[in-house]
Amino acid sequence: MNVHVFDTPEQLATEAAGKIAETGAAAIGERGTFALALSGGSTPRATYEHLARANLDWAKVHVFWSDERCVPPANPESNYGMTRAALLDQVAIPAANIHRIPGELEPAAAAAAYRDEIDAHFGAGGIPRLDLVLLGLGEDGHTASLFPGTEAVKRGDELVVENFVPLLDQWRVTMTYPFINGARKVIFLVGGDHKAQVVKELIESKSSRLPASAVRPMSGNLVWLLDKAAASLLAN
Ligand code: 6PG
Repeated sequence: MNVHVFDTPEQLATEAAGKIAETGAAAIGERGTFALALSGGSTPRATYEHLARANLDWAKVHVFWSDERCVPPANPESNYGMTRAALLDQVAIPAANIHRIPGELEPAAAAAAYRDEIDAHFGAGGIPRLDLVLLGLGEDGHTASLFPGTEAVKRGDELVVENFVPLLDQWRVTMTYPFINGARKVIFLVGGDHKAQVVKELIESKSSRLPASAVRPMSGNLVWLLDKAAASLLAN
């Protein structure tokens, strides 16, 4: 396991932004483009603010999301809205390079529209290879919007599906495991002592059944970026 632990949340954010920029520069150097899927929630906001100041050729960066809440962009719950404020409004990224999930649509229509967007960018058929998927982690072991006991964790037939989350009484749109695991690199970005127990299970247990345990990129390139609090229960 490729696990990096940083002393403070600020260092985690700075270092994570650096690793994303580094991955992007390498992708652009090798293939002329960087296809990045961002996660939502609260943890990555500080990272996105640092990423906005990184040295990256944004004209060659294509931004996707690993999941979205089924709300309009202006809703405070919107992952797109959070990313827009923290990152996209601060960098010279062409509008055509921003591949948002249209959370304002009905869930099934939003998922279908996002699948079309992905096909338009990567070409239809097969499993597209994102250069990097950034993921968060919930205390229940969910990642993206792959929540325990929900339909989406069973879906391997589509790259993206709508998913009702009873726990939140909310519809989501999420990438499925085949799409996530087809990425060249996956980074879990996790902070806070409230995540320490789930981090310990996912990194140390070989028999975890938590949704995040099924994130196993075919490339084998899985990286954990943690602050000290989230890593506090890991065996040294
Ligand atoms: C979302 C995320 C979700 C998130 C975790 C952690 O849309 O909420 O994609 O998977 O990463 O719930 O969220 P926090 O960073 O807010 O703890």
